[in-house]
Amino acid sequence: MSERYDLIVIGAGPGGYVAAIRAAQLGSKVACVEKSPSLGGTCLNVGCIPSKALLDSSELYVQAKSKLDRHGIRIGDLQLDLTKMMERKTRVVKGLTDGVGFLLKKNKITRIQGTARLVGQGRVVVQQPDKDSATLEANAVLLATGSEPVPLPNLAFNGTTIVNSTEALAFESIPGRLIVIGAGYIGLEMGSVWSRLGSKVVVLEFLPRIVPTMDAEIAALLQKILTKQGLEFHLETKVTGAAARGNQVAVECQSKGETKHFEADKVLVAVGRRPYTAGLGLEDVGVAKDGKTGQVIVDDDYQTNVKGIYAIGDLIAGPMLAHKAQDEGIAFAEKLAGQKSHVNYGAIPGIVYTWPEVAAVGLTEEHIKERGSQYRIGKFPFAANGRARCLDETDGLVKIIADAQTDRVLGVHILGPRASDMIAEAVNVIEFAGSAEDIARISHAHPTLSEAMREAALAVDGRAIHA
Ligand code: NAI
Repeated sequence: MSERYDLIVIGAGPGGYVAAIRAAQLGSKVACVEKSPSLGGTCLNVGCIPSKALLDSSELYVQAKSKLDRHGIRIGDLQLDLTKMMERKTRVVKGLTDGVGFLLKKNKITRIQGTARLVGQGRVVVQQPDKDSATLEANAVLLATGSEPVPLPNLAFNGTTIVNSTEALAFESIPGRLIVIGAGYIGLEMGSVWSRLGSKVVVLEFLPRIVPTMDAEIAALLQKILTKQGLEFHLETKVTGAAARGNQVAVECQSKGETKHFEADKVLVAVGRRPYTAGLGLEDVGVAKDGKTGQVIVDDDYQTNVKGIYAIGDLIAGPMLAHKAQDEGIAFAEKLAGQKSHVNYGAIPGIVYTWPEVAAVGLTEEHIKERGSQYRIGKFPFAANGRARCLDETDGLVKIIADAQTDRVLGVHILGPRASDMIAEAVNVIEFAGSAEDIARISHAHPTLSEAMREAALAVDGRAIHA
């Protein structure tokens, strides 16, 4: 006998569990299948949350080591307890993943631990640990299985010296030298953690710039700041292989026509992620994927080419971001219930949690130039912001790009302290199709970092007050 539901969600990451909760709120009988005993997917277990826990801990260490002195606070015998730092990270993760379990229960969602496989339209077989497999049936099946790290050819992950982001979140000791391949989100965040804790971090990046999805001017500034913090960058450097040399790994690269070698205790490969669909049975039921990217192809309702099978999050096109997956989870569930719902893909923020942080929404200056639109730019440096001075965090700036004719905000790029929180204002303005003048006319509390946003908006029209 198979159990019947309105919706089976496969994967309990931010996309899957949010979709399950929203569908349950709307009256559906929902089952959520997750192969891991811990809910929350990559984001909560081995991604966003543990990395931010370590980023926050390691930044506090840097503050204690070298920044507090400027505030007149001296610390005598500063010590780092990596085990305790890791234990705190684990506690943060456990609190949140347990919280997801509570939310599923509260919403009367059936939680099934096991590995799900599609066996037909609306039919899923779940292989449960130490149990017989179970067959579930539903009117709709949502695939939300996320993504996995992309390995490099000739540089297979071995879990100890050549590692992915999951393993880089759990080193037992601080590597003397760490090579990071890829200057994207993961490379810069995990590179920052280990550099702050004492590793010599060397970043090898294939392109002539870092964080390729971000505004080029902001990226160049970030590179300068991170270099000052001790990270070493080699751009236009393509890794071609690696070999073990005793306890060390020697990485071979081609860089501007030369062959170069770098040695390290550990190598973190962070060259992107790809949709995770292995064992899901997509081929058996005929779900179509993009041949090049491996992404599941969906329509505007997130439905695949097979009726009743849907997909969201890292499995489908778009940025691999937890909040994008959550937005899609909600939109999917509401559409399934017959509501009108949509995701505004032009207003999804992206954040790199280095220090200072980078946060952006909308188009980069390069994109706008490519489109051939006429635009105006307003910039304001944190060095001229009172609160940033009090905090002693004056690196970075706010950059607002507005349409030259209509003044509509096209893109906002922030490099600065807590840019991750500041970007929310810009997301709102872009969502409501607001103008730079709108931001300039809104009262911004003084003294706050947010005043830099208003000043940048005023600067679009050449009338910043404090610059
Ligand atoms: P990424 O796409 O952000 O960056 C990968 C970098 O590796 C790029 O700069 C690329 O040019 C470079 N690269 C590719 N092949 C290379 C090679 N052979 N040699 C040297 N460099 C090479 O990917 P990343 O950092 O692995 O992150 C994966 C995904 O996870 C991202 O798409 C991101 O959306 C998500 N993520 C988001 C975070 C956040 O929101 N703060 C944090 C961590 C990950």
